[in-house]
Formats: sequence, C-alpha cells, structure tokens
Amino acid sequence: GDVEKRTLAIVGELKALEGPLLPILHEIQAEFGFVPQESLPVLARELNLSRAEVHGVVTFYHDYRDHPTGRHVLKLCRAEACQSMGGDRLAERVKALLGIDFHQTTLDGAVTLEPIFCLGLCACAPAAMFDGELHGRLDDASVRELVAEARR
Ligand code: FES
Repeated sequence: GDVEKRTLAIVGELKALEGPLLPILHEIQAEFGFVPQESLPVLARELNLSRAEVHGVVTFYHDYRDHPTGRHVLKLCRAEACQSMGGDRLAERVKALLGIDFHQTTLDGAVTLEPIFCLGLCACAPAAMFDGELHGRLDDASVRELVAEARR
C-alpha cells in the first residue's frame, strides 16, 4: 500500500548510511507524523533485521510514536530544575485533567502528552511546551487554561 511505498522510498534514500535505522525512523516520523505499523516489516526486510528488533528500537526511543498525535501536543518538562519546582505535582495534575498518561492521546484526539527533558527555561520552572510554544512558571491555573485551550 501507500505506507509501504513511501517507507520504501525513505529507506532507499538513507539505507547507505552507517547505522541507518535511526535516521530512517526519524524521516518516517517526519513524513507520517508517527511510525506506522505497516512500516515495520518493510524496515525489517530492507535492513535485514527482525521485526522484533525494529519494534524494540521504536519503543525504546520515546521520540518515536506508533500512533498519530492529537491536534495539540503538550510537552511537560521532567528534568531536574522543573521537578524541584513542583513539576511532579504539576504532571500529576495534567494527567488527571486529561485523563491520560505520558505518551498517550486523549480519546477526543485533542491532546497528546509527552515528557521532555529541559526546555532551557529552567529559570522559569516548571516549564512546558504547547504546540511548539514555551510556557514557564506554570501553576494549576495556567495549566488548566492550557488544557482548556487545547480542548477548544
Ligand atoms: Fe525544565 Fe530546564 S529543567 S526547563
């Protein structure tokens, strides 16, 4: 099908690299927004790997998704400065508000929640990125606002 064809084209371009799997996965995710299940057997076959090996790499690196993201992506900083400023509590709060865990998408397809490790906004911890935009000094109120915005 179409996914296989597009996967094959990407593999063809990058196969000659040393250690081609990661750059290929990166490119596949850029193309589809996630790594489709249908891509995995193509990768295994073309790179002489077992499907389990390919699957293992996709799940090991949390940057790769095996499903499309929601309409919005909320990335909460999980690194030290943010943790020390209440990042854990904030994360629990967001998970409860959205009803999902990290790496999941709300059922209405509105929001995908991802952890991220330092946004360079440590001075304004706890920090998050919402659709590519930085937000610092988050508290319950501002987080609730972000989530409401995402659901609009
Ligand atoms: Fe969160 Fe640096 S630790 S932005």
